[in-house]
Amino acid sequence: MKGVILAGGTGSRMYPLTKVTNKHLLPVYDRPMIFYPLQTLVNAGIREIMIVSGRGHAGHFLELLGSGLEFGVQLTYEIQEKAGGIAEALGLAESWVDKDPVAVILGDNIFQDSILPDVTSFRKGAKIFLKEVPDAQRFGVAEIDGDHVISIQEKPEKPKSRYAVTGLYLYDSDVFSVIRTLKPSGRGELEITDVNNAYIKKGMMQFSLLKGFWSDAGTFDSLLRAGLLVQQHRTQEKK
Ligand code: G1P
Repeated sequence: MKGVILAGGTGSRMYPLTKVTNKHLLPVYDRPMIFYPLQTLVNAGIREIMIVSGRGHAGHFLELLGSGLEFGVQLTYEIQEKAGGIAEALGLAESWVDKDPVAVILGDNIFQDSILPDVTSFRKGAKIFLKEVPDAQRFGVAEIDGDHVISIQEKPEKPKSRYAVTGLYLYDSDVFSVIRTLKPSGRGELEITDVNNAYIKKGMMQFSLLKGFWSDAGTFDSLLRAGLLVQQHRTQEKK
């Protein structure tokens, strides 16, 4: 399986922190944010990883991560010219991913769980990772019935459950033909939620519930929270 880290976007929600650097390079406790999603992919046994970033600070990713040698992986870089959404950014990886399955992770998502078992057993279709949260309206929200995902709604005012769809997805290579059928949403972007709903419609969507902590780090409050969660976890490890 190949891995794609999506680190595009303008970081407008985090201004002025993002005036002279990229959101995904901001510190989460003792590391730059992007180290965490990268480590999640590395721990899952993924060795070929593409980083998709926007223009502006793209060179900083190269400076920071280089070839990937330090992490024991091979890194490739791609540029998303305009902020056209998560699904559009993923579409840029098409020729590089080719016929392989792909793990996609958002550059501002911090996961404690290992997804090695999920990656190892993945064959076809798609898989999402859900986490029960108190503020589901901030995320994609999954309605589930037993083993099935019935639907996902992007940032609903009245969430149908407390299960946030986290920014980590496994897809077979059909994902690129799905992306080609998408139309821009109200916010003018190709939405990853629309990709996932297409897999749900085909009956090809699975899910796992995350056990460990998860946080996004794309707002001031969630960035602070993510840092505190990591710090707590590090301290527990040392004891
Ligand atoms: C994106 C996705 C959303 C998901 C979230 C996880 O939202 O659109 O479905 O729950 O990431 O962090 P965004 O952060 O782009 O608003």
